[in-house]
Amino acid sequence: MITENIKRITTKVIVEMKKSGEKISALTAYDYIIAKMLDDAGMDIILVGDSLGNVFQGQETTLPVTVDEIIYHTKAVRRAVKRSLVVVDMPFLSYQISIEDAVRNCGRVLKETGAEAIKIEGGKPMVETIRRLVEVGIPVMGHLGLTPQSIHKFGSYEVRGKAKTEAENILRDAKELEKAGAFSIVLEKIPYGLAKKVTDSVSIPTIGIGAGKHCDGQILVCYDMLGMFEDFQPKFARKYANLAKIIRNSFDNYLKDVKTGKFPNKEESF
Ligand code: KIV
Repeated sequence: MITENIKRITTKVIVEMKKSGEKISALTAYDYIIAKMLDDAGMDIILVGDSLGNVFQGQETTLPVTVDEIIYHTKAVRRAVKRSLVVVDMPFLSYQISIEDAVRNCGRVLKETGAEAIKIEGGKPMVETIRRLVEVGIPVMGHLGLTPQSIHKFGSYEVRGKAKTEAENILRDAKELEKAGAFSIVLEKIPYGLAKKVTDSVSIPTIGIGAGKHCDGQILVCYDMLGMFEDFQPKFARKYANLAKIIRNSFDNYLKDVKTGKFPNKEESF
């Protein structure tokens, strides 16, 4: 593993990992405690995802998330991280209006949080923006396939790229993103065969979420894989724990102990 003795994961290291065949591990984080545990575990990438709109804020979509909110969460994450690459998901309308606006907002995010890269959703329409961001020194992770900020265009969270034309567009866009200077691309909810084709066609790493095993890396929303988010469980999100059950049990037991006077006891008192 090329990352074994690496003290700090950079965007360059992420690209090297693809060349060496080492898989890239990534999860989301929105707060200090989880980010610290991810960094201690040796996670390669920590994404401050705008999925915080769903799992942290309880919003129906990611659209309401603001730049100020993502900065607030990233500052908390950044304080915990010593080694992982911290990538920030740029909120809806913070980079689509104009290239100038994108540079201003993405630059502000890096300046104020200390994160090392940003992620933006979209293919062809984002190419010039990505080129400019990279030109001014802002590393960009792309995001193709199911792009949740376009939910009102798609109409559902269904798998993307099943139809021939859409599959061709995703493949074309991945190549364009690479040419524009993106250092990696998230592929969300596309057939694994298409993800393999994309992965084999670009020299930058693909990070899959619901895109099968052929991607160069994998990412999940950490509350999903920890079994904390009970509202919705996507098929691709393997549950590594059932923390919701543990937390609910703990709350029940605490409540019972308080009501019955069992908490606090003598040892817990002064
Ligand atoms: O917002 C997010 O968490 C994401 C990942 C799931 C890729 O975009």
